Amino acid sequence: MAHARSEGDEPLTLNEMVGFCSQLIGAGADTTTKQISSAMLMLCRDDELMTRVRSDFELLPRFLEESLRLESPVQGLFRVATCEVEVGGVTIPAGAHVWVVYASGNRDESVFDRPDELDVDRERLRSHLAFGHGPHSCIGAPLARAVSRIGFEVLLGRLDDIRLADDGFVPDFDPSYIMHGMRSLPLRVTTA
Ligand code: HEM
Repeated sequence: MAHARSEGDEPLTLNEMVGFCSQLIGAGADTTTKQISSAMLMLCRDDELMTRVRSDFELLPRFLEESLRLESPVQGLFRVATCEVEVGGVTIPAGAHVWVVYASGNRDESVFDRPDELDVDRERLRSHLAFGHGPHSCIGAPLARAVSRIGFEVLLGRLDDIRLADDGFVPDFDPSYIMHGMRSLPLRVTTA
């Protein structure tokens, strides 16, 4: 950022650089943390899936796409309609502020069969909107996919047994309609 230059633009100011760094903390760290904990809860609640993933790490990317679809860390973001448009029989006027709920699209039954079920064998696994869509879709998606995959490879590789510390665990979600994830996920683990 310090050295970034684009033709016709002034270099970034210190305020812009600090602003972008703070955006990256939310955009880059909070999201992946939330995805990893949601995905871990799914594994802990499904012994068959845990055994399947443990016996074949090649399944991890497929499982992680499903976890992004079902428990999207970013539930939705805002847009301003640049022109009048009709969506689902509703006319959205130009200039209207719209809350685009990616998480709802991710359970669209016209796109995904049995949308509420986790299915690592489904086709078009990456057709979800958890990273948004269009010119401003998540620039960090490849990094996020690598972080969660490597995280699970290391955790599952080093820990023989991972289970919920309390069988009756009830997730405590952050009170946000944008970000979706648990405040904590207490686990009991056995090292390999
Ligand atoms: C599981 C992890 C992540 C999820 C679910 C996620 C989700 C999203 C979503 C939904 C958007 C908005 C897309 C839109 O408006 O259409 C976005 C944008 C963005 N994300 Fe991510 N993200 C993740 C990880 C990351 C990481 C690791 C980074 C960087 C280190 C990052 C950096 C950004 C940036 C800079 C934008 C703004 C892009 C733009 O406006 O052009 N994200 N992300």
